[in-house]
Amino acid sequence: MPGLFITLEGGDGSGKSTQSALLTEWLTAAGRTVLVTREPGGTDVGVELRNIVLHWRGDIAPRAEALIYAADRAHHVATTVRPALERGEVVVQDRYIDSSVAYQGAGRVLGGEEIRDLSLWATEGLVPDLTVLLDLHEDEGRDRMAERTTFDRLEAEQAEFHARVRAAYLELAEAEPQRFLVLDAREPRETIAAAIRERVSALL
Ligand code: TMP
Repeated sequence: MPGLFITLEGGDGSGKSTQSALLTEWLTAAGRTVLVTREPGGTDVGVELRNIVLHWRGDIAPRAEALIYAADRAHHVATTVRPALERGEVVVQDRYIDSSVAYQGAGRVLGGEEIRDLSLWATEGLVPDLTVLLDLHEDEGRDRMAERTTFDRLEAEQAEFHARVRAAYLELAEAEPQRFLVLDAREPRETIAAAIRERVSALL
């Protein structure tokens, strides 16, 4: 496809939105058309699904949760991401398949491979050109969110859940070093932004 698909991954509080904004600013200044988007919730349907999956007050069975994320992704890719890539745009996206593999596959212990296959089916096999993993110890992510008074269903999970998520992310990155750029989220934000720009420049 003519466009470039960049995803940002990492635990809650790792700085994905900040880096997405800095990267977008730089790409736009360089004359690129950028679609900034996220999962869950990158479409109108997705906003509804996001509300259910993050804020439903009762239990959601783990497999149902995985399917809601996959449904959000299927609709988002079909209606928004793939068309933008076909138009030659750069898509900068907060979270994608790797989030499902880490949170549902490892966090909910549903199994990474099956969850990956589900997402690949949902997206007709769309894989990012670059995935930036902002790696942060789960305790630090929690500290960064200390001022928050409300937590969504996933954020409210125990430390062990978030430790499994982090370990799964690092395993994914190790398995696909060409696709992943792993950065220490404790570095200053400008240092991180410069490292991302360097890698993106090479791809453009
Ligand atoms: P965020 O948009 O604030 O990062 O919140 C999304 C939450 O949903 C976050 O806790 C991670 C979680 N999530 C999954 O569990 N699976 C997924 O596939 C995605 C995209 C997000």
